[in-house]
Amino acid sequence: MLPSALWLIIPVGEKNKNLSTCEKIWKTLTFHHADRNSLLINFGGGVICDMGGFVASVYKRGIPFINIPTTLMSMADAAIGGKTGINFQNFKNHLGFFCFPEKIYINPDFLKTLPSREYLSGWAEIVKHALISDAGKFSKLPLEIPSHTKIRSYISDSIRFKFKIVEKDIYDTGERKMLNFGHTIGHALESAFLEKNKPISHGLAVATGMICEAWISYQKKMLPAVQFFNISETIQRYFLKINLTREIEKSILTNIYQDKKNCNGKIQCVLLSGIGKPVIDCVITEGEVREALRFYEG
Ligand SMILES: NC(=O)c1ccc[n+]([C@@H]2O[C@H](COP(=O)([O-])OP(=O)(O)OC[C@H]3O[C@@H](n4cnc5c(N)ncnc54)[C@H](O)[C@@H]3O)[C@@H](O)[C@H]2O)c1
Ligand SMILES: [Zn+2]
Repeated sequence: MLPSALWLIIPVGEKNKNLSTCEKIWKTLTFHHADRNSLLINFGGGVICDMGGFVASVYKRGIPFINIPTTLMSMADAAIGGKTGINFQNFKNHLGFFCFPEKIYINPDFLKTLPSREYLSGWAEIVKHALISDAGKFSKLPLEIPSHTKIRSYISDSIRFKFKIVEKDIYDTGERKMLNFGHTIGHALESAFLEKNKPISHGLAVATGMICEAWISYQKKMLPAVQFFNISETIQRYFLKINLTREIEKSILTNIYQDKKNCNGKIQCVLLSGIGKPVIDCVITEGEVREALRFYEG
């Protein structure tokens, strides 16, 4: 396969999705005289697709890249949509661009070897897509997560839905923001665990964020109780609870002010007025986030 290609092996993990790894890649590309006709192939999970896209879009003002996602998360979400980026000071995707790959090749056969923790992580974004797009789809989510031989249609549904939204709002100024449901609290939570050097998967953070943000929607009387409990139970069917210490809670409440959706120092987030009915640009308070975290802790 591609005998003349230069292979760059990147150390695994969210903690390496940073400037220092990018610098190493740029140095290697420079050393090997990669030019503007070179093609960067991002072969791996969401970390590789996000960081590879970022590296390619900066190198010599941009070289083409393609994504070959190998995790469920990257097939159903990260590799598509043109958001590239890296973490900075442990803040999620703090530096980045909108930049689209030339091609995306998806083959669910890669999922055969994916550890269950990572598989579960990708399932969170598939659940999110069902939840914000269509009450019927959400109600038809299976009791158990489908195996890699039965996941193809769920990946296709996610991609179709995401493409439809991104096409209308590439730069995330309007409708596309709905895809961030669960991510305001989710990203702050993921950063909090990253800071403690105990990373949790992106999907687990988003699943927790979705329960908390649905709780806030319910508390604000936007989301009917019966729908809130349906959402919470469905998500908890797949995802184990995370133990949130007071230290983690404090860190979440600090990190949340770095969210990219915020405006004028106010925390802005996507809430729900029903299943399949996301509402963008909702202002929430630190107190509401704390209450949601306390509810989650039970
Ligand atoms: N740009 C976007 O729109 C977008 C959307 C969702 C998530 N993301 C980002 O994606 C990242 C998470 O992606 P992820 O969940 O793919 O994690 P990941 O890229 O860290 O991959 C998870 C693990 O699986 C391993 N792996 C990858 N493919 C494998 C395979 N086929 N078999 C066995 N092991 C394999 C990797 O080496 C890694 O250890 C986060 O940084 C998140 O912010 C971005
Ligand atoms: Zn996500």
